[in-house]
Amino acid sequence: MELYKGLLRPLMFRLRADDAQGLAEWAFRRRFLWSLLSAPLRFQDLRLQLSMAGIALRNPVGLAAGYDKDCRFLDSMLSLGFGYVVGGTVTWEPRPGNPKPRVARHPAQLSLVNAMGFPSLGARRIARELARYENRQDAVLVSIAGLTIEEFVSCHRLLEPLVDGIELNISSPNTQGLRVFQEPASFRQLVERLNQGRQKPLFVKLPPYYNDEDRNKVLELTRLCLKLGVEGVTAINTKRVAQPELRVGAGGLSGKLLFDDMLRTVKEVYRETGGKLIINACGGIFTAQDALMALQAGARSVQVLTALVYEGPAVAKNINKGLVRLLEENRLLSVAGLMPSSS
Ligand SMILES: Cc1cc2nc3c(=O)[nH]c(=O)nc-3n(C[C@H](O)[C@H](O)[C@H](O)COP(=O)(O)O)c2cc1C
Repeated sequence: MELYKGLLRPLMFRLRADDAQGLAEWAFRRRFLWSLLSAPLRFQDLRLQLSMAGIALRNPVGLAAGYDKDCRFLDSMLSLGFGYVVGGTVTWEPRPGNPKPRVARHPAQLSLVNAMGFPSLGARRIARELARYENRQDAVLVSIAGLTIEEFVSCHRLLEPLVDGIELNISSPNTQGLRVFQEPASFRQLVERLNQGRQKPLFVKLPPYYNDEDRNKVLELTRLCLKLGVEGVTAINTKRVAQPELRVGAGGLSGKLLFDDMLRTVKEVYRETGGKLIINACGGIFTAQDALMALQAGARSVQVLTALVYEGPAVAKNINKGLVRLLEENRLLSVAGLMPSSS
């Protein structure tokens, strides 16, 4: 949408990133407006439809967790033509998050650094928001996190009936206590507890890795996911970097600078799990070509967040349109044909 890049983005980028984000949230809460824009913004094509752990998706382009943390405008996001949306991350108790500034832009690198620190209205309030989407036809997932197994379990029990699947955030770089669940023993305990009452697909958001030791740990987690019956993983969360202009001095890097890490992780997880674990690729995906590379590396779907900030509301439509063009060029009948298992 040239209106966005030519006019709205320059205006938004004159505001501090935190304020621009607040303004975008305000605009997206005008749900009626976005439902009117849905026809020009959605791109529908039967060849893009697929199933992700039994969840029917209109297309493989999802909105990543973190854009609508309190699930207050997921319907507007669906109007933009995303094949599914991930609300959250939701915590059991309300939390204010970190002090501002907590988002920084790096326009030359098409990247962001954020240290949101899990601002959340809390699961009980967000359950009321999610109840609004009950009769929808599109897929809604919600990301949950907690500092204890009990917090995860409480969120899961309350929110699972309201959505199509749950994504576990054990990988935010901004919340120290979360990382304990990246340890195999704690991860196993957590998933076994969730499995006791679980009805719907479960996805685990993986951290990026920084060295070989981390890499082996992440791959071990994916093997555990298979053993424990977890349906899929989302690869990857943001990468911790120093950022003096943020109030807390450091945050998670997202956008183009994450793309190579994402692609390598998708390839390695695919190889490690023999294609048996669903992989949602997330990190630096901006174009149909980026999405194609992730799907060919073994991803079932792609998720975007930073590209929405830089490319604007037509990002899902543009990626989907481009994917259809690539299908036609490769004489493929459906997007599932792009993945390595069926090639
Ligand atoms: C402002 C911001 C907030 C985020 N909040 C969350 C979050 O609450 N939970 C989560 O799992 N990931 C969160 N993420 C990470 C994204 O979901 C995604 O993994 C990451 O940004 C890489 O994708 P991208 O390059 O398309 O942005 C956040 C990212 C950004 C930029």
